[in-house]
Amino acid sequence: MQIAVMASGTGTILQALIEAELPIALVIADRECAALMRAHEAQIGTSLVERGSFAGDFDRDAYTEQVISALQAAGIDLVAMAGFGTILGPAIFDAFPDRIINTHPSLLPHFKGWHAVEDALRAGVAETGCTVHIATTLVDEGPILAQEALPIYDGETVATLHERIKEIERRLYPAVLRGLVNESNQKSERSI
Ligand code: GRF
Repeated sequence: MQIAVMASGTGTILQALIEAELPIALVIADRECAALMRAHEAQIGTSLVERGSFAGDFDRDAYTEQVISALQAAGIDLVAMAGFGTILGPAIFDAFPDRIINTHPSLLPHFKGWHAVEDALRAGVAETGCTVHIATTLVDEGPILAQEALPIYDGETVATLHERIKEIERRLYPAVLRGLVNESNQKSERSI
């Protein structure tokens, strides 16, 4: 089993996956970011599939094909999204059916989208959390594999709340991925 992690940001979730000693064979980013540096430091192969445009002329399907090629060239079996900033086209879900996993900083189906932490804070809910799920063509939807809640404190900011959520993600996401790796290893042992 070979995992690719896709990230665009600081890569602290990626770091947790690296430290969990998961079989990460590739890190893909859509822009220069700290996550790529973390991969370099861990001597994991990287692919910068740079997004040419952030405007309306962005060719999402062509971009997705480039990502699929990078994944296939590295012999990837499982894709772990870890703060990847570009929504990918439907072709990737055909190329890796049920093999793309995402972590999202809310209790899905609540607060989908890029501003999940801010939206939960603004809504005044008493608790939020994180969700690890199988990704589908619909953003932040798909079968839930694990969820964990946490209380929102008075006076909390987006930064403090997101950091507390990420503390959970850094524990929960590696555990879920470890389970999937073990499951796949057991299946291949049975088929020998
Ligand atoms: C995480 O909260 C993840 O759920 C979201 O982006 C964040 C990535 O954090 N999609 P980091 O860049 O790994 O610190």
